[in-house]
Amino acid sequence: MIDLSRKKSRYYVELWEQSRMPACTIRLPGARLYVINETSLIPSVQRQYKTLAFPPLQAKLAMNVCGSSQTANDILNTNVNGDEGFWGYSITHYKAIHPPLFPGPGLDAMNRVMAQKITTSLERIQSSEVFRLFDFVKREVTRATTDSVYGDQNPFRDPAIVEAFWEFQEGVMGLLMGLPPSFVRDSFNAREFMAKRFVQYFNEGGHEQGSALIKARYAHSMEHKIPVEDIARFETAGAIAILTNTSPACFWLLYHLYSSPSALEDCRRELGTILSENTNKTQGGGSGITITLDLTQAKTSCPTLLSSLQEVLRLHSVGISTRQVMEDHILDGKYLLKKGGTVMIPAPVQHQDAATWGANVHSFDHRRFFPSAKRPNPIAFRGFGGGTTLCPGRHFASTEIFAFTALMILRFDMHPVDGKWKELTTNKASLWEVTPRPDEDLVVKLIPRDGFDLNVKWEVLVTDSDKSMPLAAEDMDALRHSE
Ligand code: HEM
Repeated sequence: MIDLSRKKSRYYVELWEQSRMPACTIRLPGARLYVINETSLIPSVQRQYKTLAFPPLQAKLAMNVCGSSQTANDILNTNVNGDEGFWGYSITHYKAIHPPLFPGPGLDAMNRVMAQKITTSLERIQSSEVFRLFDFVKREVTRATTDSVYGDQNPFRDPAIVEAFWEFQEGVMGLLMGLPPSFVRDSFNAREFMAKRFVQYFNEGGHEQGSALIKARYAHSMEHKIPVEDIARFETAGAIAILTNTSPACFWLLYHLYSSPSALEDCRRELGTILSENTNKTQGGGSGITITLDLTQAKTSCPTLLSSLQEVLRLHSVGISTRQVMEDHILDGKYLLKKGGTVMIPAPVQHQDAATWGANVHSFDHRRFFPSAKRPNPIAFRGFGGGTTLCPGRHFASTEIFAFTALMILRFDMHPVDGKWKELTTNKASLWEVTPRPDEDLVVKLIPRDGFDLNVKWEVLVTDSDKSMPLAAEDMDALRHSE
């Protein structure tokens, strides 16, 4: 227990390296954790989504984190695992939010707002600015993401809500564990503050001018007669899904690309082939240059950038997929899982195994996921989870990370102010996190690249698309079947 709480997901990696057991049980007082290590066992767990279930855990966690009312909790717990058919809040939630997040018009609309916000925010950068890199990425990504999800009445336009959100997420582990408010006072108060602001947002019809995603979430809750105070509380957890992983993933991608000259050059070259340049008349009678990046084209024509993003998630993810054992089950005909136990699939065990990824498993290799590279079993990549809990926001998040990173690397050079790219740790990450932020921020200087002076205007285009990026094993299967 001490090791687990100190080392967190690293503990599972050490256990795997020491024991090489395909699956093992960790007995804690009153709890059995079944840890799945062997890649070939993962599909067997994912197939048993009723017996090894996520919705009952999700409902419990949502209630603790959001502090929802008894009325809402009863609704969440009704037919929670779909034993009586495909109905009820919990069991239909994933299906309700899937269409607006899957490639198509809803996602394109969100991406357009996001791309425009990111372009404008990067236009504000002055020549040779010095930044704390993570703070900068977090601020700009939070602004762009929340504007695209919540629309013109986005509560996150108020800096007090942004501050409250990050305060809230600091204490999520305590809330998940059901600690009393006095133990997690700051996080608890921040959540209450956010919930009040979201009540106002919904009561004033803010969601009606928002994205297809927020409309779908609101409609799904209304259909199940969730009171508006609880819809607002659920949105505090919704904001966690939307915000917590994208900024760190974007930060790590910039960190690795800028600190690896060959990766940076490859990505710049690739992006350079899809840029278009126009000369237009300015108001003063002169002429100006506009460079356009077609984000939709970038998603299908930049395999090195995509490979780099996957590699960043492989190297840094600390996510652990969990399932509740609903009845005794023999996994794969070999391993007895007892009712009431919790199944854990730690992504780092998959991601840090030299037998799967090779001797350079701990280094950043921007071409590791390149289509022509000899690729390991796709199931061993768990950056976005998998099975019924596969991240539905992966296309939105990846497109946003592409837009931000592409504009940054095309327009600027970046140097750490103390002269070297130091190794960064993530030991402060909590057990519930997926993509952790660095323990310590990095102070960097941005300098416009030669030939891309600050007077050039940049435009990011999102053309209609129903194409998805192969981000997870499931996407690759879907692509194979459509060919
Ligand atoms: C780089 C950014 C992101 C990463 C790395 C990421 C990763 C993940 C992972 C690993 C899971 C699965 C957890 C499990 O198996 O238990 C997950 C679930 C989820 N993600 Fe993401 N995510 C990202 C961004 C987003 C965004 C932007 C959204 C929404 C717009 C989102 C919405 C969700 C939701 C709703 C779930 C829960 C699915 C369910 O109910 O089963 N994620 N995410």
